[in-house]
Order: sequence, then structure tokens, then C-alpha cells
Amino acid sequence: MQIFKVGGAVRDRLLGKPVTDIDWVVVGATTEEMLAQGYRPVGADFPVFLHPKSGEEYALARTERKSGRGYGGFTFHASPEVTLEEDLIRRDLTINAMAEDDQQNLTDPYHGQRDLEDRILRHVSPAFAEDPLRVLRVARFAARYAGLGFTVAPETLELMRQLSDSGELEALTAERSWKEISRALMEDQPQVFIQVLRDCGALKVLMPEVDALFGVPQPEAHHPEIDTGLHTLSVLEQSALYKQPLTVRWACLLHDLGKGLTPEEQWPRHIAHEHTGLKLIKAVCERFKAPKDCQELALLVGQYHTHCHRALELKASTLLELLQSFDVYRRPQRFEEFIVACEMDARGRKGLEQRSYPQADYLRGAAKAAREVAVQPLLEKGFKGPELGEALKRERLKALKAYKDAASA
Ligand code: CTP
Repeated sequence: MQIFKVGGAVRDRLLGKPVTDIDWVVVGATTEEMLAQGYRPVGADFPVFLHPKSGEEYALARTERKSGRGYGGFTFHASPEVTLEEDLIRRDLTINAMAEDDQQNLTDPYHGQRDLEDRILRHVSPAFAEDPLRVLRVARFAARYAGLGFTVAPETLELMRQLSDSGELEALTAERSWKEISRALMEDQPQVFIQVLRDCGALKVLMPEVDALFGVPQPEAHHPEIDTGLHTLSVLEQSALYKQPLTVRWACLLHDLGKGLTPEEQWPRHIAHEHTGLKLIKAVCERFKAPKDCQELALLVGQYHTHCHRALELKASTLLELLQSFDVYRRPQRFEEFIVACEMDARGRKGLEQRSYPQADYLRGAAKAAREVAVQPLLEKGFKGPELGEALKRERLKALKAYKDAASA
């Protein structure tokens, strides 16, 4: 048998990037031989094994054919006769379809190295279409390598467009899609992920609510970029520049969905978009089974981002309501994520990226003032149950009034 390193490990070594996990392909072996050498099978009927010591994945060379819709619909053929070239041709991108032996001799029948040098994401063969998840994968790689100058080959984008138009994307499970989306959002240029999905028509299938933002104008005074879709991309871009966590990036992507519902005759104003957007944010989160923390923050940012931008003008009682809605006393971290998501929203505007955002520290100070109200003296005064809650609220309101007066003095 012959063993080759394949896929991302080869690609990233050639790019001079750190290699995290290594996939191996085994040519000329049978399942029995693998088991006899101590490899552990991954699934009952799939020709993938884990190395007894390193735990890395070793797959028998295989060919694959699609036998139905969606991900379950695959038949594969693994046997000692399947060649390395046959295994490589079923893979997604040329840059992912290279193999090397233990002497670092490259097998590159589909010119992945040339495409790496030319900075092109190109599909290997028509077999690309057998797994619609690859539409998301290519967009994710585009987001990851945009900084190196990579773009999607026009013929690959065309194939992605055909896949998007064919209804195949709807067969993807929420779990597989979310895994790609969440990884893509954590890349260096997540806005490129959304842009590529839009360019091939996948965005209007996967997230029509986000797609609908393109072409929707906003008032130029606050939004020199005007277009709500472009604004959303910029907010996402800022969230990556500032190395924000997934929760914040997800909230950035979804914060303005309500603007896609504004009747045209009201453009460029978007009255109550914070409220109208909530059901759309919920729908997108549910579609991909986004984790609870992502869902929660996206809804809160959707509902309250304008409050944050207007923080300095809010009455003490409105500030208190805002802090209560966030349960800032028990969930300070979530409030902090809200503040930074709103800051990204403020920076994601053409020419205003460097503008200061005093609202952030102002709200942090307000949260601190409200949190510092001590419960003990109220307990000592004999307050209990709902009355204690009311008394606490009164004290917090007092503290916020004092905070506001001090800040404006
Ligand atoms: N692959 C594929 N189609 C898929 C998933 C994977 O063709 N839908 C192939 C590609 O050759 C890929 C390899 O399997 O390089 C390993 O897949 P995976 O570990 O998911 O991706 P990597 O390329 O290693 O990329 P990453 O750095 O994102 O993990």
C-alpha cells in the first residue's frame, strides 16, 4: 500500500500557512489490511480509519457517485484498484486535490499548484456538483484567502450558480450549513463569504433576508454608502478587523434585516426596522439551528442597536429598561458583546470607519453604575420578593440619573 498526505495539509504547506490537521489517503489497500495494522474504522461502512497512535484520518482511495438528493445520497467505491488520480478528481477544488508522499513529492494531476500561484479557486471536475455544500465551502475559502488575492474562477462561479438555481442547496442539513457558515464568519474577510454567495445566487436561497438588503437605500447622512447590503458587508468586515467572536459577527450580519421589509415609498427611512426585523432574525437562526448564544445576541442587537447609537440621549429610565432587558447584572459579557456589535455597526459606514464611538464607554459606565447598587442595605431595610425587586429598580434609576448628570456636567 502507498500512503499520501492530501487536501488542506498539502495546500497550506505550499501556501506557507500552518497545517493543523492532516488527512491521508491510502492507495492499494483493503479494509482488512487496515484493520490488521491496527487502524480503527470511523464508521461501520465507510472506508475511513483513524491511525492507532496519531488519531489522524486515513481514507482508502475511493470514487464517489451521487445517487440521490442531499447528503445521504452517495454511493462510493473503494478498492485497491482505485488510483490516486481517481481519488483526487472527486474532490472540490484543484488546490485541495494535490497529494504528496513522505518525500514531499507532489502528485498534482489537476494543476492545483498552478492555481495556487495564480490565486484561483477552481473546481476540479463536474463531480464538484455532487456535493452542494461545496458552494459554501468555496465561498468560505474565498473569505479565508481573499487577503492573499484569491478569487473564484468564472467557470466555478457558473457551476455554483447552476447548483444554487437547481434547488440542491435546500437539501443541505442545517448542521452542515451552519458548520460552514460559522467557520466562514470567523475567517479574515467574512464579508467575502457573503459576497461570493450573493454573486452565485446562493445567498437568495440560503438567506433571502440578507439578500433582500442589497438595493435598499438608507439616508446618506448616516450612511454614506447608502446601500443596506453594502453596509452589512462593511459591518461584518469591521467585526473581523476587530477580531470579534462568532456571536458578534453573526449579530452584525443580521442586525438590519428589518430594512429589507420597508415599503419602497418610505425609503430611505426605515421606521421601526429594529422591531420588524426580529421575526426575520429568528427565522434565519432557526433555519440553521444557530447556537443559543448566537441567536440571543442577534435578536438583542437587532432590537436595540439604535438605542446604543443614541445612548447619550436616552433618559435614565430608558437606560434602566435597556440594562434590565439585557439582564446585565447576571450577563455582563452579553451586554459587552452587544456594545461592540453596535460599535461595528457604527464603523461599517463608508468613510466613517475611524470615527470615535463614545456611546460604548458611556453604556459600560451606565452598566457599572447600575450593577454597583448594593442589595444588602435593601435587605436590611426588610425588603423581600417583588418589593425588593422594585426597590432595587428605584435605586438603580437613582444611580443612573446621577451617572447621567455627572457625564453631562
Ligand atoms: N473535500 C471535498 N468536498 C467536500 C469536503 C472535503 O472535496 N465537501 C476534500 C477536499 O479535497 C479537502 C479534503 O476533502 O481538501 C479535506 O476536507 P476538510 O478537512 O473538510 O477540508 P480542508 O481542505 O482540510 O480545509 P480546512 O482547512 O478548511 O479544514
